[in-house]
Amino acid sequence: MSKICVVGTGYVGLVTGTCFADLGNDVTCLDINEERIEKINKGIMPIYEPGLEQLVETNVSAGRLIFTTDYALALTNVEYVFIAVGTPSGDEGEADLQFVRSAAEAISDQVNHPIIVVNKSTVPVGTGDWVTDIINKRRKTTGGEPLDFKVVSNPEFLREGSAISDCMNPDRVVLGSTDRSAAQKIAELYTPLRCPVMITDLRTAEMIKYASNAFLATKISFINEMANMCEELGADVVEVARGMGLDNRIGPSFLDAGLGWGGSCFPKDVKALAHMAVLHGTHPQLLQAVMEINRNQRRRVIYKLRNALNGLNEKTVGILGLSFKPNTDDIRDAPALEIIHMLENEGAIIKAYDPQGAENAKTMIPRVTLCETPYKVAEGADALVVATEWNEFKQLDFERIKEVMNQPVVIDGRNIWDPEQMLEKGFNYFGVGRGSNTH
Ligand code: UGA
Repeated sequence: MSKICVVGTGYVGLVTGTCFADLGNDVTCLDINEERIEKINKGIMPIYEPGLEQLVETNVSAGRLIFTTDYALALTNVEYVFIAVGTPSGDEGEADLQFVRSAAEAISDQVNHPIIVVNKSTVPVGTGDWVTDIINKRRKTTGGEPLDFKVVSNPEFLREGSAISDCMNPDRVVLGSTDRSAAQKIAELYTPLRCPVMITDLRTAEMIKYASNAFLATKISFINEMANMCEELGADVVEVARGMGLDNRIGPSFLDAGLGWGGSCFPKDVKALAHMAVLHGTHPQLLQAVMEINRNQRRRVIYKLRNALNGLNEKTVGILGLSFKPNTDDIRDAPALEIIHMLENEGAIIKAYDPQGAENAKTMIPRVTLCETPYKVAEGADALVVATEWNEFKQLDFERIKEVMNQPVVIDGRNIWDPEQMLEKGFNYFGVGRGSNTH
């Protein structure tokens, strides 16, 4: 059992802290947001993540997990402190490190025993060294003795919606440090997970995180570019992806064509990586193309709808799904929201439904009528757009949908429906890259 503090109770911090507690460690999660901590202490989770509430409750009851806003309490006698604070995009696309800085300063101010500082936040390459500098300088300026600490980078690879399972069954754990024995100590925390652990230097570990996210985003933009070609050439991108994915060198995952990638990670990280490249004098032309393809993918929905409906002014469009992907209530950079804004700019009237994301989305889309079911969305709609592939959209009562719609136009932005069947049922069906008959 180790004594761990996790700073930041966002997605990464909350899931990581809870999982470490579940593995038997003594964990204190700290956040400076009092309201958030108060709610968590009442059992109200700040995010929707399958299984999280239960796991928090189990570990709090077992006395292994506590939540606080008090740095002094959280850092008392801890061996490891994980920094898992947000790194939002700054004005130029760069990662904003103000929260990492505050965490490092608090560690410098509060700790007087040997400690390992582990960086889990996604931070620009070189941040590990910067954290070391901040702590050392702060100790000097506040007149303290030098602190005995080591910094380790331990990037996270959790997907929202399956974060707990990703945390407990990782493909790999990456650790980077200038001090191998510090990295090895952190590796021991992961021993119960029986997964490959890679130890490397600080900057390489930081780069692995960005390169992984950028590569996954590239895979998606690649298949979306193929999808757009498939529409012109009469091929079916779903089959193309299947045929490609059977090649072990390519693999089947992250080849679902659709409305492109969103969320709190890919857009921010690809932008930050491109920004780092420019800053250091290299030209990130592939990353620029990956981002451009993603932007266009959202716009293509508007062209398709405009053509199918003979203009968008005063047309009613129903949106199924608001969250950036299923099984989360996260609407950050969700394709649905940008599509709604573009449609509204052209005079369309929007109705929408999402099983979890509506509450978070409502202030961002004040003119949209939020409905309780997909069938309510379809009522009087001139078109339906599937923006998020929630399971409950996969098998709807299509007779009923068609009956209540004003026109049977559907844009299946996530390719969840069978084009042939939808055409047979009398819909004017448009998928993404589904051959010449269906776009
Ligand atoms: C992503 C990475 O998958 C995690 O490994 C990483 O830890 C995390 O970012 C992070 O940096 O924190 P996440 O943003 O939760 O996780 O979501 P993904 O499941 O990767 O999906 C990202 C976006 O790509 C979604 O909008 C999704 O709809 C889209 N996507 C995904 C596709 O359009 N096609 C696909 O085939 C797969």
